[in-house]
Amino acid sequence: MPTALGAPVRADFPFFQAHPDAVYLDTGATSQRPAAVLDAEVDFVRSDYAAVHRGSSMATGEATWAFENAREQVAGFVGAGEREIAWAQNATDALNMISLGMADASAGVGDDRFALREGDEIVVTQAEHHANLIPWQRLAAKTGATLRWAPVDESGVWTIDGLRELVSSRTRIIAFAHVSNVTGLIAPVADIVAIAREFGALTVLDACQSVPHMPVDLADLGVDFAVFSSHKMLGPTGIGALYGRAELLDALPPARTGGSMITVVSMEQADFLPAPHRFEAGTQPVSQAVGFGAAAAYLQGLGMDEVFRHEHEIASALVEAVESVPGVRLIGPAAGQPRAALASFLVDGVHAHDVGQFLDDRGITVRTGHHCAQPLHRALGTAASTRASAGVYSSADDVEALRVALGDVRGFFGADR
Ligand SMILES: Cc1ncc(COP(=O)(O)O)c(C=O)c1O
Repeated sequence: MPTALGAPVRADFPFFQAHPDAVYLDTGATSQRPAAVLDAEVDFVRSDYAAVHRGSSMATGEATWAFENAREQVAGFVGAGEREIAWAQNATDALNMISLGMADASAGVGDDRFALREGDEIVVTQAEHHANLIPWQRLAAKTGATLRWAPVDESGVWTIDGLRELVSSRTRIIAFAHVSNVTGLIAPVADIVAIAREFGALTVLDACQSVPHMPVDLADLGVDFAVFSSHKMLGPTGIGALYGRAELLDALPPARTGGSMITVVSMEQADFLPAPHRFEAGTQPVSQAVGFGAAAAYLQGLGMDEVFRHEHEIASALVEAVESVPGVRLIGPAAGQPRAALASFLVDGVHAHDVGQFLDDRGITVRTGHHCAQPLHRALGTAASTRASAGVYSSADDVEALRVALGDVRGFFGADR
């Protein structure tokens, strides 16, 4: 049965009013925003804008209420307590906040439970976005810890057995994407959390590509930390979320220090506020927070079960479409395996950038390149792929347009001769 998502919700999005024929299959990179989000941000700036958490004026009180209400909306959306969500610039920033806090602890500045030492290990997968790889490389380099990774196979997929083999009592952190931004693989979070708990390791979930597309309850999942970005879930750029279980977030050393995040400051030292405010040094992206909250409310209004059901249909259609075109190789889990609504592929004899250009000429927006996952692409034996990624406004018509255009790519470039 078709869902009420897809074409009907396009009316909520000014982008699709401006571009009625757009086939926008690049939501994995960044999403379009509904009027509800744009209006919430603009209304706040027009009518309620003032300094937040500073001063005692009525205006400040109202702005602070809107700012904290947004936190409540975002926290509620992912099953977190309000004190468990700190604002970051984006998911990348939030991952850096975790790794830099741990680097501080390792240097003796902050809670020892986050300290890493030589002999300790950090486990990731070979499929990670650079945002969930480089911060751990840096942490390893600073502390003498070793970075290990679960390898991917020829379709870019890693396995729970491959990851399990790497984990031991030396493992301090397991950091992994809930949904791969290249393969669409949905990770078995509960299994990984169970493995981590067995060995006392912390889990860090990169939830960038899951939170916008499926019901995610971080408390239920049992991860220790998680990150996601507003701009991938119909919200503004410039803001993301760092989730941490309250007792961990209260203890993690703040990566950034300065105004607004302290209790008492002397010339020698400073005491920090509890979470989340200990992570929010300086003036925050206030109107973006309001927009982020509105995005969570909008998605909640659609119903995340419904969103998942819709995107599950789109995922199957994408796989079918890509696999139906001769000379096109789909990356990622085989048909029938859990996969989010994104599909990356390689076209025989045509460079990914040429594929992207060809599709763009047909009015189809996709992403080309390494998608910030060079190690994964290297393992696939290529430098770049083309990715089509869907969202709540994507429909079977978008997928059909992609299928038809893909069928013409190799002929256009003479690669079928
Ligand atoms: C899986 C994953 N992790 C992290 C990121 C980084 O997100 P941001 O650029 O918003 O920090 C992305 C963005 O593409 C992603 O897809």
